[in-house]
Amino acid sequence: MNNFIYYNPVKIVFGKKTISQLENLLPVDKKILLIYGGGSIKKNNVYNQVLGATKGHTLIEFSGIEANPEYKTCLKAIEFAKVEKVEYILAVGGGSVIDAAKFIAAGVLSNSSNPWETIVKKGEISGALPIGTVLTLPATGSEMNSNSVISNRDIEEKAAFSSPFVFPEFSILDPEVTYSLPPRQVANGVVDAFIHVLEQYLTTDINTPVQDRWAEGILLTLINLGRKVMDNPTDYENRCNLVWAATTALNGIIGVGVDQDWATHGIGHELTAMYGVDHGQSLAIVLPGLLSIQRKDKEVKLLQYAARVWGITQGDKNVIIDEVITRTSLFFQSVGVSGLCSDYGIDPEEAAEKIGEIFNKRGSLMGEHQNITGAVVKKILLNRQCLY
Ligand code: NZQ
Ligand code: ZN
Repeated sequence: MNNFIYYNPVKIVFGKKTISQLENLLPVDKKILLIYGGGSIKKNNVYNQVLGATKGHTLIEFSGIEANPEYKTCLKAIEFAKVEKVEYILAVGGGSVIDAAKFIAAGVLSNSSNPWETIVKKGEISGALPIGTVLTLPATGSEMNSNSVISNRDIEEKAAFSSPFVFPEFSILDPEVTYSLPPRQVANGVVDAFIHVLEQYLTTDINTPVQDRWAEGILLTLINLGRKVMDNPTDYENRCNLVWAATTALNGIIGVGVDQDWATHGIGHELTAMYGVDHGQSLAIVLPGLLSIQRKDKEVKLLQYAARVWGITQGDKNVIIDEVITRTSLFFQSVGVSGLCSDYGIDPEEAAEKIGEIFNKRGSLMGEHQNITGAVVKKILLNRQCLY
């Protein structure tokens, strides 16, 4: 096992009607900026619950954070927060709103004239306003991690930063607020959480049985519940388990001491920046080709994944690996997320050429062995033979 330090200070408040606890979780002596997205929280009564629980607090609002939060919108929020002398941020929404809150929280305390370069690209952060969150979409784990992903549409870039300063102080996870999610967002969340696990699990075999079993437990739960939640949106127990699966997929716990990949995410972010596909969709496009091209490096764990998660044990190693890649894609398809570029109007050859060149120019090396170059990215995006 690799050396590690595990630190996670986020207080999780989980369960029915827990938004009412904002009353005690938020400071009464600080000016709070409530941040939210395009208005779903007004339709599903979350907004009213938040206002009801914060009657004794000083709250102002900034709304309109986009899916894949836009840099320019976040800059406006930073300006607003500075003028209003905001001291605390409450993010109510999915990963996009929470990620935006993290960037805004760091931006308010920064004097940088170019926060895109300093905060987002270099992760230069020396402080941030405290953040609390109310999660409305299980997917990213942002509610319990220190990562944020911001999009800069002017330059077609989507970039991630991480800093211990932006861990939320608390996150409220009320599974009932996820009942109102459109099926497409539930499906995106299932695929995103599933691939968060694979990025940390399908790497090198370095004898980490505890992390492996945790990872397999989350994968099996997502396979079991993905379709059920979509077919039965108000089943509370299933919603609970889906929310907790997504949070634990990226709260750091399954990633301790193991080698990690994250190339599917790196390439997927470029697909979203260039073609506007949802985050979960971008990952479903990239993953099959990546697993196929990287099969030698990942062989032991791919075979373990095939046996323990999908029950595939018979046959030649390559046949098993092809089969498990296909089964994974079919699972994504079963919740409604296609892995085919053509379903999103993307020309795979153009995408491979453009995205491969981006990584070539950056000189990026991705994957657990740092051997995924721009040339390998091109092969990954053109590798379709394992798809259904
Ligand atoms: O804008 P609103 O009105 O909030 O509507 C949202 C949005 O349209 C809607 N929604 C959310 N909760 C709802 C709801 N609609 C009805 N009922 C509810 N309860 O769903 C849409 C998508 O929301 P969004 O927040 O964009 O989705 P998600 O949580 O999947 O977040 C995606 C973003 O997170 C980043 C992605 O790159 C992307 O920008 N990621 C962040 C990570 C992290 N911080 O660790 C890791 C991930 O790998 C990911 O990269
Ligand atoms: Zn993700």
